[in-house]
Amino acid sequence: MRAVRYHEHGGPGVLTVEDAERPDPGPGELRVEVRAAGVNPVDTYFREGSYEPPELPMIPGSDFAGVVDAAGEGVEGFAEGDRVFGTGLGNDRQGTYAEYAVAPTDRVARLPDDVGFAEGAAAALVGVTAWRALVDHAGLEPAETCLVHGGSGGVGHVAVQIADSVGARVVTTASEEYHDRLEEMGADVIVDYGREDLADAVVEAAGRSDVILDHRLDQYLDFDAEVGTQGVRVVGIGNTEPDAGFDNVAAARAKEMQLQLMSMYNTPDMAAILRKLAWMLAEGDLRPRVSKRYDLDHAAEAQKAVLHDSFLGKLVVEP
Ligand SMILES: NC(=O)c1ccc[n+]([C@@H]2O[C@H](COP(=O)([O-])OP(=O)(O)OC[C@H]3O[C@@H](n4cnc5c(N)ncnc54)[C@H](OP(=O)(O)O)[C@@H]3O)[C@@H](O)[C@H]2O)c1
Repeated sequence: MRAVRYHEHGGPGVLTVEDAERPDPGPGELRVEVRAAGVNPVDTYFREGSYEPPELPMIPGSDFAGVVDAAGEGVEGFAEGDRVFGTGLGNDRQGTYAEYAVAPTDRVARLPDDVGFAEGAAAALVGVTAWRALVDHAGLEPAETCLVHGGSGGVGHVAVQIADSVGARVVTTASEEYHDRLEEMGADVIVDYGREDLADAVVEAAGRSDVILDHRLDQYLDFDAEVGTQGVRVVGIGNTEPDAGFDNVAAARAKEMQLQLMSMYNTPDMAAILRKLAWMLAEGDLRPRVSKRYDLDHAAEAQKAVLHDSFLGKLVVEP
């Protein structure tokens, strides 16, 4: 099969397209003919070596959507020809920027018939992340106020939609050009993250926040303590560490701010969340936006873009 692989750690230039052996599914696993693979910042962390992949050479990519091509021993509930999507690969096993990928069934769900493969792949990792952050960890309730930093990003634009479907009042920060589309996705208040008076603007427009999804703790932990309500629940997902100069300790203590860090890869039952996401996709409650598509030969470009370009939603690789 054709696959993108890296044999050593480094920049996007270490990615090459080559012939790799088509993997066979083991017990409880599915082989999926990949039609789309989501591109996530974490794919670049494994490539450059700040996260440790299980082996080299390595195929990058966590997210996939495609068609079941073969089922391993003992698999129940899936059959050849099923349309599926999933995530969580590329971490403890080979990834998804390839014509075929093998996934355990507990990281897979059926993709509704009228949802495209690109949209399925685009929804998976970010959807599981946003669900685990907002619902599992923060316990977001209807009528609460949820602040999503960076609402135009992969996680952000799905988090806005999940928070909206929970019934929360959704506040988000994003560049001006994305405000209209984020409003269509369910954001009630949108503030440009570049504003000098960002904290005042958020509090003035939205009141204080009960739950905050923070993808840049280095920049926003003080801010979160300032704009959070009493007992604010902050979930930190970003690849950055809180600043050593966290100044708002007194405010955080007085508010009894809770800070939960998380890794999507620890999600105990990804398939359960994926089934919920599938239901939301089918109902039209979740519409992941595919901003740009790349073929395997341009996967390096996609990995550059996911870190350095501005876009609304997700980038996908289509083998
Ligand atoms: N812990 C986990 O389980 C987990 C899971 C998924 C993702 N993550 C991490 O979460 C982060 C976001 O992931 P992603 O896939 O959503 O990335 P993404 O698609 O690249 O989105 C990042 C977003 O951040 C916005 N942004 C840039 N600078 C900002 C600032 N100063 N303030 C507010 N927003 C800003 C960008 O907007 P502009 O383009 O307009 O600048 C963009 O919309 C990454 O660090 C990723 O590794 C962690």
